[in-house]
Amino acid sequence: MIEIKGVTKQFKEKKVFLTALKHVSFTVKQGQIVGLLGENGAGKTTLLRTIATLLSPTDGQVLVAGHDTVESPNEVKKRIGVLFGGETGLYERLTARENLEYFALLYGMSKHETKVRIDDLAKMFGMRDYLDRKVGGFSKGMRQKVAIARTIIHNPDIILFDEPTTGLDITSSNVFRQLVHQLKRDGKTIVFSSHIMDEVSMLCDSVAMIHKGELVFHGNLEALYKTEASRDLNYIFMSKLVRGNEHAS
Ligand SMILES: Nc1ncnc2c1ncn2[C@@H]1O[C@H](COP(=O)(O)OP(=O)(O)O)[C@@H](O)[C@H]1O
Ligand SMILES: [Mg+2]
Repeated sequence: MIEIKGVTKQFKEKKVFLTALKHVSFTVKQGQIVGLLGENGAGKTTLLRTIATLLSPTDGQVLVAGHDTVESPNEVKKRIGVLFGGETGLYERLTARENLEYFALLYGMSKHETKVRIDDLAKMFGMRDYLDRKVGGFSKGMRQKVAIARTIIHNPDIILFDEPTTGLDITSSNVFRQLVHQLKRDGKTIVFSSHIMDEVSMLCDSVAMIHKGELVFHGNLEALYKTEASRDLNYIFMSKLVRGNEHAS
């Protein structure tokens, strides 16, 4: 479970304060798939980085499985896997297996534990044919699989993806979607940011919409479709933004 409680994040740039998140509160329950929607600069990455302990909130707090991200970052890190858009973080000169072994080592996993986990992931993601080939020669789709496997090498309950399909071709985007379905079946909690409405409506149970640092909606997708009398998430999103602005001004 992730509890985001009144989170405000300010950045200071040349004596000017910029508020990237304003009193954002919502809860993600175990096993939920949540889409984080928002335009460029809305605050999606800042929120994901805050959950991942990479940023401290200026005000408010985030609890991951009951652990405060500022007070107990190590407890939080154990329980989450994080993949930030575009960056696979893989070493080209190493094989897929060697890459995964390297990250397992960083998490303090034993040799045996690592071997079993890599075998499981290779089977689950269909990577067995190229596990011992160098990543340098891989297609984007193959890299994406290895990158996601790396993200969850320590078998975290919670996985955060920042714009996971931005810049990917259709085949690699489909790889991501399949893997999310698989992880959902395993009971994982997933939060991912996106500006692709179809992707969010296909994969998510609920959505959190952020506009200029403020949460304008959080809740179940089906319930949202009902109250809005539409299944067009793009249309709903735009109208929420308009209403959000009216509300603010
Ligand atoms: N390290 C930083 N220093 C200063 N401003 C930042 C920093 N990170 C993000 N911002 C600002 O915070 C706002 C939200 O950014 P971000 O979370 O990256 O949005 P999104 O991921 O939704 O595109 C933007 O105005 C951005 O310029
Ligand atoms: Mg971003």
